[in-house]
Amino acid sequence: MSGEKIKAIYGTRDILPAEADIWTEIIIAVSKIAEEYNYGFIHTPVFEAAELFSRGIGESSDVVTKEMYTFKDQGGRSLTLRPEGTASVVRSYIEHSMGAKQGLVKVWYAGPMFRQERPQAGRFRQFYQFGFEAVGSLEPSIDAEMIAANYDIVKSLGINDIKLYLNSIGMPEERKSHKRAFTDFIKPLIDRFCTDCRKRFKTNPLRMFDCKQKRCMALLIEAPLIFDYLSDENRRHFGEVCEFLDHIGISYELDKRLVRGLDYYTRTAWEIKSDKLGSQDSISGGGRYDLLVEQLGGKPTPGIGFAAGIERVILAMPVKEFEPNRKDFGFFIVVGDSRYKKEAFGLITRIRKLGIPADIDYLGRSLKAQMKQADKSGFIYSIILAEDEMSRGKAVLRNMADSRQTEIFVKDVLDAENSGQLGELIGYKQ
Ligand code: HAM
Repeated sequence: MSGEKIKAIYGTRDILPAEADIWTEIIIAVSKIAEEYNYGFIHTPVFEAAELFSRGIGESSDVVTKEMYTFKDQGGRSLTLRPEGTASVVRSYIEHSMGAKQGLVKVWYAGPMFRQERPQAGRFRQFYQFGFEAVGSLEPSIDAEMIAANYDIVKSLGINDIKLYLNSIGMPEERKSHKRAFTDFIKPLIDRFCTDCRKRFKTNPLRMFDCKQKRCMALLIEAPLIFDYLSDENRRHFGEVCEFLDHIGISYELDKRLVRGLDYYTRTAWEIKSDKLGSQDSISGGGRYDLLVEQLGGKPTPGIGFAAGIERVILAMPVKEFEPNRKDFGFFIVVGDSRYKKEAFGLITRIRKLGIPADIDYLGRSLKAQMKQADKSGFIYSIILAEDEMSRGKAVLRNMADSRQTEIFVKDVLDAENSGQLGELIGYKQ
């Protein structure tokens, strides 16, 4: 048998505990805002029928044409590792007739997504998103709520140097008339565009605005924009979304060139970007998908949502390096003599039962090494079981932050009824 090392797959990565602490903090911050905005958590499977995404996200999107992890299972079914969450939420909404029970369904989710893209800073093949979806309302106020939730989350994570770009990309009828003008404009220039743009011109011309190549961008400067082809109704809808945002003080920039990479979008679309992120500068993106429920077999129902990538959120956060937090309450038990191992084990068990974090050495380390370990553990207290004190039934309580030491009766800790009492016993004040 070969002992060769096996590595994580290209484009995937391990999130080690120090970084994982920040992930947990992010999810807690998101869940707090989800609660404030009254969104319930939803879990959907990580893999789905391939057709869900090809129909939902659209045959002309990059995600479907080049990036999906699709495979056959043992039963010959074609399955796809989800590249995003919206199609799954809508599938679940239809499957569980959620709309019949509730006029408006508001949910959020978090978890891994998979896209076979070329990995680079802020771009992975397995990445993590959190997202919000609201299915059932066409009111401009729900657009504003969704944008506000997205904005609040990003701000609550201390990300301040952001810009919110907003656009309306209309409905298929408007796109048809725009497409005519756009095609007339592009046709004489088409040979000067990159290969991707030439392909997009045939499949989904609007996506040409997403090209990052300078030459293509320059060629598009004078191109007709979908925003200028909106019907009065959709122009009014967009205007009202802006009024709601103005009213609650959320600043945005109208970006008539903003288009989204997935085909289901209609009307309002937005992206939040940070200069800190380089070429992958989108922290989050979202918009309306007013035709998706119907496309996936449900009754015509409008929807709106957004998703953000956790890796990109972290890149944009003011975090310099990952260090385990010094826990403000918790104990590392140092065993001065192997005779006290059982007492020590009893102590951590008791302390943990009180809901207080506690740990101990499991490697038979020396006293000095255990003290070092106690310091590294991040716990603010250590309890040292040494012969001198133990002969009097006592142990040393050491504050690791300021090195102050006092003696405590081991029995008192074991007898303490609740964490409050234990706190008092060891002089801990909240
Ligand atoms: P998206 O713009 O494709 O939208 O992705 C949303 C966010 O996921 C991006 O802004 C980015 O932060 C992150 N992301 C996307 N691809 C990668 C990648 N390869 N590596 C790291 N991060 C990535 C959606 O997924 C829509 N489902 C959003 C939505 C929800 N629209 C309506 N509801």
